[in-house]
Amino acid sequence: MSQASNLFTPFQMGALTLPNRLVMAPMTRSRAKNDGNVPTDSTVKYYEQRASAGLIITEGAQISPQGVGYVFTPGIYSAAQVAGWRKVTDAVHAAGGRIFIQLWHVGRISHPDFHNGELPVAPSAVQPTGVQAYTINGMQEIPTPRALETAEVKAVVEDFRKAAANAKEAGFDGVEIHGANGYLVDQFIQDGSNQRTDEYGGSVENRARFALEVVQAAAEVFGADRVGIRLSPTGAMGGINDSDRVKTFRYVAEQLNQLGLAYLHVIEALPGHPMAPQPGQELVAAHLRKAFTGPFILNGGYTQETAEKALANNEADLIAFGVPFIANPDLVERLEQGAALNTPDPATFYAGDDNGYIDYPTLTETPVATEQ
Ligand SMILES: Cc1cc2nc3c(=O)[nH]c(=O)nc-3n(C[C@H](O)[C@H](O)[C@H](O)COP(=O)(O)O)c2cc1C
Repeated sequence: MSQASNLFTPFQMGALTLPNRLVMAPMTRSRAKNDGNVPTDSTVKYYEQRASAGLIITEGAQISPQGVGYVFTPGIYSAAQVAGWRKVTDAVHAAGGRIFIQLWHVGRISHPDFHNGELPVAPSAVQPTGVQAYTINGMQEIPTPRALETAEVKAVVEDFRKAAANAKEAGFDGVEIHGANGYLVDQFIQDGSNQRTDEYGGSVENRARFALEVVQAAAEVFGADRVGIRLSPTGAMGGINDSDRVKTFRYVAEQLNQLGLAYLHVIEALPGHPMAPQPGQELVAAHLRKAFTGPFILNGGYTQETAEKALANNEADLIAFGVPFIANPDLVERLEQGAALNTPDPATFYAGDDNGYIDYPTLTETPVATEQ
């Protein structure tokens, strides 16, 4: 543990007091039953084991059947899904934790197999590149999506609102809007995937409209201080791109200021990480830190050392850890004690049973290893 530790100090994040600055990043684990896409008892255990995180953000949960793009991923639109998630939130709260659910609509990153043979929907009919769809029939090519009608866009905003209401009923402390990684909200924001000519396309004001309406709808359900949004301004998933990322995302961040959100969560991975910006690519996160006046979470390849540095340099208020939380249910305790970390197994990140899901040992289940 470093001398002047910030990671283990409390933080007031909107309506919640977090005991530390470590956030568990949202991570799809593909363990839901294909029958109804309901979280299982293993999912209850998985999140309960990680309750010492300052905040848990769940894996992406689809807001509607239209928002589905991956097999074995949970939703938050049916009564059975709400009941499944209720068990998760009860277990996390009983273990002393706090938990937001990530609300997800994949947009064009999908396949007709999920939609009775119909095309996936998107802001515009622009085919994603460099990705395939993970379906019950294996990996498949993603077709060119169908552009949503203006009235349909407004209906999707309402689906987000309903999903937020379901999340509240399921006992979540709040919601994170998935505005990152090339999915629907991101597809609206960036001009490579948004070529609309109605009020949701064209100018940056119009392209940001959908994201802002979705956040506003969730805030009307939960209170803005229990709503966050995740953005990945330098991401490239599905070939997502924008002609001026700094200008576009700075505008979004500035507009979000008016709402008083719980947080803005930005992925801008450190060099060497698979999600890192290309060498020479313009960085955006620091611009957003400046533009956004509320709590700010950074994510992407952070270690304890780089996280402490980022907090000390005031680059963020909180750091989200992804893979380290997969392999270490007690990541907070391990870092605080300077203990060794378990090794993650990528083969079980997105597939499998309890193996690689709820069987990573805690310190008390293994001999205590000390820092070399
Ligand atoms: C198995 C896995 C699943 C992921 N699923 C999601 C997801 O559902 N939603 C999301 O916003 N990001 C998702 N991500 C990205 C992570 O939240 C995070 O941004 C990424 O792992 C980088 O952080 P890290 O270096 O601390 O792991 C996923 C990453 C992994 C490894």
